[in-house]
Amino acid sequence: MDLKKRGLKRIKELRASTSGNSVPTGLRKEVQRVLITRAQLARRVRELSREIERDFAGRELVAVAVLNGTVMFLADLIRNLSLPLRLDFIGVSSYGVGTESGELVFTKELRLDVRGRDVLLVDDILDTGRTLSRVLSKLRALKPRRVRTCVLLEKAARRVEDVRADYIGFSIPDLFVVGYGLDFAERYRNLPFVGVLHPAALAAGT
Ligand code: IMP
Ligand code: MG
Repeated sequence: MDLKKRGLKRIKELRASTSGNSVPTGLRKEVQRVLITRAQLARRVRELSREIERDFAGRELVAVAVLNGTVMFLADLIRNLSLPLRLDFIGVSSYGVGTESGELVFTKELRLDVRGRDVLLVDDILDTGRTLSRVLSKLRALKPRRVRTCVLLEKAARRVEDVRADYIGFSIPDLFVVGYGLDFAERYRNLPFVGVLHPAALAAGT
């Protein structure tokens, strides 16, 4: 390979590694493959922001984000929103075993008054729908003007509750994913891409 070709190859490799197209070598035993790249996430999040802007034009928004999985998605989403908005968080924890969600407990309550307000509820992933439907009924009881829901991911195959999201980043197959805020036993939230957790890591648990 001549020098120029080698240089181009190196640039391609670099670009792939910095845009999150490949799993970092040290993580290959835990994360099987990249499902959604950093670039795909960025593009889709910008599109969602544009849709939300159109739907809420002329209104002040209260963004309510579910802790902790929304951290990266939320930051990117609201950074791209040119709307007046206030931000609050709601904490929900499920005392489930492994990847199954169990009993839901609220760990942080809303601080802002949402009565008569336009609310955008943001969550990381709509799986069985138990979390979103619990949080939605809690929010609706506070009499907002309207509530719209926005999730980065959804796994339609696993729905148990009759709940849907108004804005969906990506519909994904029934795989356990981590990264871009999503965790397994609180790990991997900092990965810049969404990756599929290795079945072995899943089986090994925490
Ligand atoms: P649901 O209540 O079953 O809809 O589950 C929602 C919550 O389960 C999400 O907010 C996540 O915290 C978690 N969850 C569901 N699927 C995944 C996944 O594939 N990776 C990481 N977390 C997940
Ligand atoms: Mg979680």
